[in-house]
Amino acid sequence: MKNIVILISGGGSNMAAIVRASRQRGWAERLGARVAAVISNRADAGGLSFAREQGLATAVVDHKPFPSREAFEAELVKAIDAHQPALVVLAGFMRILTPGFVAHYEGRLLNIHPSLLPAFPGLHTHRRAIEAGCRVAGATVHQVTAELDHGPILDQIAVPILPDDTEESLAARVLTQEHLVYPRAVESFFHQGA
Ligand code: GAR
Repeated sequence: MKNIVILISGGGSNMAAIVRASRQRGWAERLGARVAAVISNRADAGGLSFAREQGLATAVVDHKPFPSREAFEAELVKAIDAHQPALVVLAGFMRILTPGFVAHYEGRLLNIHPSLLPAFPGLHTHRRAIEAGCRVAGATVHQVTAELDHGPILDQIAVPILPDDTEESLAARVLTQEHLVYPRAVESFFHQGA
């Protein structure tokens, strides 16, 4: 059985969607994979309690005490690699990763970004899409490469932007669709023969 490790920083609703999908009957057998652990850089990440309730291994590697990104990541890599993952899933993990970290997990590191990449990499995607007058927004699951929010696209989902949308209403509409596209992308990752 191949292990999936999910990294979160907050509410973890995408992580929960992937865990729920992975617990559907036949999923693990079909894909030969299971979610093994959830790791957060914040002890107060809401998603950790869901993960614990699900009986998953959890760990916290707080970035704050470390003098550098590299030192933090060295500890994070230890926590991740304890599970020998075939796939590492970034699910609202709000730390910028160094090229060294990305290279370590090359080809087995996925991220979800709340825009239709290559439009709107970076932060405040929904506000920027509304301000730009876009009629559609969405989310993208992509392989992580050294350049932030770039890398081969695995799957995307589009969502209409409505005339009276605010940043918050659009974010909420996109998030519900993220919960569909991320489990689907994880499945396709293993179908492609990880
Ligand atoms: C999601 O909207 C995800 O796309 C976004 O953070 C949210 C996490 O929600 N990720 C990024 O902005 C990454 N740059 P969740 O914790 O409920 O899954």
